[in-house]
Amino acid sequence: MQTAMQRDGGRAARTGVLPTLSVYLWRGFPRPLRRLAKRIHCLAFFDSFVLALRATPVNSERYYWGREFVIHMPGAIGNTYRSLFYNHYFRRKGAGLVISPGVCIEHPGGLEMGNGVTINRNVWFNAVGGLRIGDSCGFGPGVVIHTANHNYERTDIPWLEQGWTMKPVSIGEDVWVAAAVTVLPGTQIGRGAIIAAGAVPRGSVEPYAIMAGVPARRIGTRGAAAAPASAATDS
Ligand SMILES: CC(C)(COP(=O)(O)OP(=O)(O)OC[C@H]1O[C@@H](n2cnc3c(N)ncnc32)[C@H](O)[C@@H]1OP(=O)(O)O)[C@@H](O)C(=O)NCCC(=O)NCCS
Repeated sequence: MQTAMQRDGGRAARTGVLPTLSVYLWRGFPRPLRRLAKRIHCLAFFDSFVLALRATPVNSERYYWGREFVIHMPGAIGNTYRSLFYNHYFRRKGAGLVISPGVCIEHPGGLEMGNGVTINRNVWFNAVGGLRIGDSCGFGPGVVIHTANHNYERTDIPWLEQGWTMKPVSIGEDVWVAAAVTVLPGTQIGRGAIIAAGAVPRGSVEPYAIMAGVPARRIGTRGAAAAPASAATDS
């Protein structure tokens, strides 16, 4: 004769082992209470997982395994746990973060995060040299930010053995960094700027400049299109 657990094997495959186990633990209770208990049970499991992870030193083997799990968690739960996880390590924490799946932040201890920042899928930041992100910035899918260069001047040893030069990156408030942009080490992006899809900005970017291309050149100014209309209204 099949046990209840065996009969419900399909359910475990569909909903995961933990929720199914939870159902059996609470099976004597009325249905609404059971549902509530199941939810609490799952959240408690994930909470303790993230709390345990947050106590883990950066760059340990346990950190890398845990980070990989959090990076790929789906849905609103995934976003909540990515924010909790990364915020724990940031030099300055950001409120109201949206961090999509696939976002990988190396050396998060070097990152000063603003509030209300949105980071799209498969973004990669390396904050080893220092990275400052202002409030209300948005990063499109596939953005890459580097804050250090390999040294390469010597030719008697491979570049890989010559160490690094740190070059902090700073991004002002209200900046839109569009899809597939690569921000080079040492770049300073002024408030309100837009970096067009696929651009490679370097050096200093003026506030409200619209930059495109490789290397990025100024192609416009944010708000410029609205200026003649308001001037016409004034006259
Ligand atoms: C920068 C951007 C916002 C400008 O949009 P727009 O105001 O509609 O500008 P237009 O398409 O009229 O282009 C204006 C000029 O800039 C050039 N341009 C626009 N985007 C460019 C880009 N990514 N790279 C190179 N040149 C670009 C156009 O070729 C055009 O040049 P021209 O006047 O010589 O013909 C837009 O092109 C862009 O890059 N959007 C990003 C979309 C994205 O990544 N979304 C992800 C969600 S976060």
